[in-house]
Amino acid sequence: MTDIASLKSELTSMVEAANNLQSLEQARVTALGKKGRITDLMKTLGGMDPEERKTTGQALNALKDEIAALIAKQESALRKQEMAGRLATETIDVTLSPQQQRKGHIHPISQTMDELVTIFADMGFEVVEGPDIEDEYHDFTALNFPIGHPAREEHDTFYLPDDPDEKGEEARKLLRTHTSAVQIHTMKKRKPPLKVMYMGRCYRADSDMTHTPMFHQFEILLVDKKSHMGHLKGCLMDFVRAFFEIDDLPVRFRPSFFPFVEPGAEMDIGCSRKGGGLKIGAGDDWLEILGCGMVHPNVLKNCGIDPDEYQGFAAGMGVDRLAMLKYGIPDLRTFFESDTRWLSHYGFDPLERPNAATGS
Ligand code: PHE
Repeated sequence: MTDIASLKSELTSMVEAANNLQSLEQARVTALGKKGRITDLMKTLGGMDPEERKTTGQALNALKDEIAALIAKQESALRKQEMAGRLATETIDVTLSPQQQRKGHIHPISQTMDELVTIFADMGFEVVEGPDIEDEYHDFTALNFPIGHPAREEHDTFYLPDDPDEKGEEARKLLRTHTSAVQIHTMKKRKPPLKVMYMGRCYRADSDMTHTPMFHQFEILLVDKKSHMGHLKGCLMDFVRAFFEIDDLPVRFRPSFFPFVEPGAEMDIGCSRKGGGLKIGAGDDWLEILGCGMVHPNVLKNCGIDPDEYQGFAAGMGVDRLAMLKYGIPDLRTFFESDTRWLSHYGFDPLERPNAATGS
């Protein structure tokens, strides 16, 4: 019996001394394992007389239970301790200054689109949408490109493989070559007056420093009973001056041809190319910035709008080109290379507001 009492105190202090889960497991093996101390004593029971065997057996079983309970208690204490340690070391301080945490950047194209939306929303235009995959009818025919017209070829269109279920030439699917296709969707869905803007990806088979097969356009469309070219000019003048943040930015309009407008024009802004660099603002040179015009009566008719009652204007521009000009990015192809070093150089802080209206 003394043996058992001293074994108990020895095993108890061994379990209590275990200060991690590993040494506790070792203590368990030493006490209760197949070749453990208690098991060893159990093996001696066979050589005892029945009375002694009974009392010693009971005492050993009680010891076994006590030690097992003690180990369980110690284990839960150690687990708690370990968790507390991990919580202390692996904690994230959510109050850390955002300056130290900030990694992501807004892509210059997203930034530029935000700025365009901010400026035109201030003038009362509302955002609408259209699909990237169009058909010939929406991208060309309804926009007054006659079938077989060379302007269709000039768009370097990506056509989708023929779908045997779609009948007729106008149903041929393609990747939209310009956002103007959204004019058709909007005018067919909604009644005038309309004052909308839309933007997104466009596709043409073209690639060099200033062209990529996928690029972005932004367009506005206004349809009402009395808007004229003067309104269009005023609206676009306000826009470029707000966008480039130059109050006296010179502009000029040159007659130009787009099948879906009449008259059609291109707008240039003043710039200087002295010394090889390009500087936007007053200078002796001009830079083309967008296409525009009064919506062609045929386009209104194609959308079920009476051209004797309604008229309007549209203007479309390349978002990527605007971003390159405003932020001095020389090669368009770098926009789409997903290089994070490029993005952290040219990208924008996500917590800043678009600088359009704020001038920051
Ligand atoms: N869709 C024309 C283009 O891609 C731009 C444009 C839009 C011109 C609206 C006039 C009016 O070049």
